[in-house]
Amino acid sequence: MKSLTGKGISIEEALRWASFCFKEAGIEKPRDEAEILLALLQGWDRLKIFLGRSTILEEKKAAAFAAAVERRVLGEPVAYITGRKEFYGLEFKVNREVLIPRPETELVVDAVLEWASGREEDICGVDLGCGSGNLAVTLAYHLPQAAFYAVDISAEALRVAQANAVQHGVMQRIHFCRGDYFEALSEIEPPPLFNLVVANPPYLTAAEIDALPATIRDYEPRLALNGGLDGLKAYRSILKGMSRYLRRPGLMALEIGASQGRDILALCRSHSFFHTLTLLRDYQELPRVILGLY
Ligand SMILES: C[S@@+](CC[C@H](N)C(=O)[O-])C[C@H]1O[C@@H](n2cnc3c(N)ncnc32)[C@H](O)[C@@H]1O
Repeated sequence: MKSLTGKGISIEEALRWASFCFKEAGIEKPRDEAEILLALLQGWDRLKIFLGRSTILEEKKAAAFAAAVERRVLGEPVAYITGRKEFYGLEFKVNREVLIPRPETELVVDAVLEWASGREEDICGVDLGCGSGNLAVTLAYHLPQAAFYAVDISAEALRVAQANAVQHGVMQRIHFCRGDYFEALSEIEPPPLFNLVVANPPYLTAAEIDALPATIRDYEPRLALNGGLDGLKAYRSILKGMSRYLRRPGLMALEIGASQGRDILALCRSHSFFHTLTLLRDYQELPRVILGLY
């Protein structure tokens, strides 16, 4: 890879260099990627980058940009390089210990906010496999009457989620627990009762993980992807554990893999606590969220 050298490099020169490197590496839309990366590193929006094209980059910033471009060329996702990702209009800290929040997961938030609108009762929710905390933190941010438990088996993920809760001013209303889905709450007496259960658990099989693009497979935590032999392990565990914690009337909103709709609906039906089950599709018309009213 050609290096970005010399003093007095303008933003335009840095962008051209990065676009060249990205093109060589086979990255789609190289100029866009270069602008997005520089904008995030500079803390500017893209219009400012465009208007400031002839600005000379400070030497330190040029070096930081060069290092970021090298990481991107090797396949690292932009969110891990910048340490940030936007979810539902809020900025989340991320690192390689957590899944990068995905736009499809915003459907879970939409569905919960719709269910919650106009409700008078307080909401006590649980987010199982909270990762960066994107679901619990976003929901607590938008629902001031709600308190949450946020569970993850990864201590490192919980640290990231806690930092995000602090950043968005909702730390007082989220109780973080480490452990295996509902098992993590088993020692709390009396057991907390939830009228909201949300989860985006790991749902890929080993073969599906192997087939992922390297930029996901080699960078995002396996713990966040691996759904066991048939991809359904987490759903079985969550549904099995749920009956002890239900406060009616309530909502469960689960993100699912695009091919899992039928199997997970059947799993939900095998538990008697839902009176209504609905499958929501994402922007690509793929099955993505199961809503269960109990
Ligand atoms: C697909 S990621 C989702 C993270 C986040 N909720 C999101 O939407 O981006 C699944 C999360 O479940 C956690 N996890 C995996 N196995 C778990 C288990 N047995 N109990 C609790 N959490 C688990 C992983 O550490 C990971 O953070």
